[in-house]
Amino acid sequence: MADLEGNLAAKKYSPQTPLATFSHAVRGASNLDWGMQHRLSRIVNPETGRTVMLAFDHGYFQGPTRGLERIDLNIAPLEAHADALMCTRGALRTSIPPATQSGLVLRASGGPSILKDLSDEHTAMAMDDAVRIGADAVAVQVFIGGEHESRSVKNLTTLVDAGYDAGIPVLGVTAVGKELTRDARYLGLATRIIAELGAQLVKTYYCDEGFEDVVAGCPVPVIMAGGKKLPELDALTMASRAVRAGAAGVDMGRNIFQSSQPTAMLTAVRAVVHDDADPADAYEIFREAEGASS
Ligand code: R5P
Repeated sequence: MADLEGNLAAKKYSPQTPLATFSHAVRGASNLDWGMQHRLSRIVNPETGRTVMLAFDHGYFQGPTRGLERIDLNIAPLEAHADALMCTRGALRTSIPPATQSGLVLRASGGPSILKDLSDEHTAMAMDDAVRIGADAVAVQVFIGGEHESRSVKNLTTLVDAGYDAGIPVLGVTAVGKELTRDARYLGLATRIIAELGAQLVKTYYCDEGFEDVVAGCPVPVIMAGGKKLPELDALTMASRAVRAGAAGVDMGRNIFQSSQPTAMLTAVRAVVHDDADPADAYEIFREAEGASS
């Protein structure tokens, strides 16, 4: 208990100064509760308004994936270089150090494997467990145009409702089936639906034509998904085009952990995303690190 002896009377009220208001960099988040805004700021860097997320949740539907055979050995050393980690609770609990300071985005939908129709998902994690773990967001796949479109939308809205109870944001991921085109019209449709139904973040693929319209039409941050492994310069160029078109960063998996130098690639991606580095200059960062290790 504080010593009450000699207690000085409070007097610095600065009555002429209005209470501070805080501007923040997360699109569409102004009216959210403090806890939700706080968690979003652990994912999206408040200084740049952008994020570099490391996705390694692939095992939830495709089992062992090249580069993810041993998450404890291959991914855990990368965690400090990412703003946020996107993974399953199983990978997190078994293979990532609890002392990590990165934001945590936990996969909360699942069901079918690559042997089945991927749109046949359910929610796959209770919000209570996200709270228990200390998640900063949960992620759910939304299959607009897919066989089980409505159920995936229900998965999203169920998690959004539970997320408001817990103060945990939801990242809605546009899932593109083989039969759906990754063009601006489709991606604009899917991202807008996901945001309107309450997701505080949306992840979607890049498209060469009209990506700026996709971003402009979505009232919450759009984070670019990485996709299949590309040559490093191509992946950096895609990331650069996405953020210059207004994306709030990237969530990349295979283009990081399947690179010959994952740490160098993460560093190069950070330069593109947070420093607006030219892709060619960022590629030099990658090449230097690659040369140093050979
Ligand atoms: C995709 O929707 C899942 O979350 C993936 O497992 C992951 O995000 C894919 O990452 P990438 O395509 O960059 O390897």
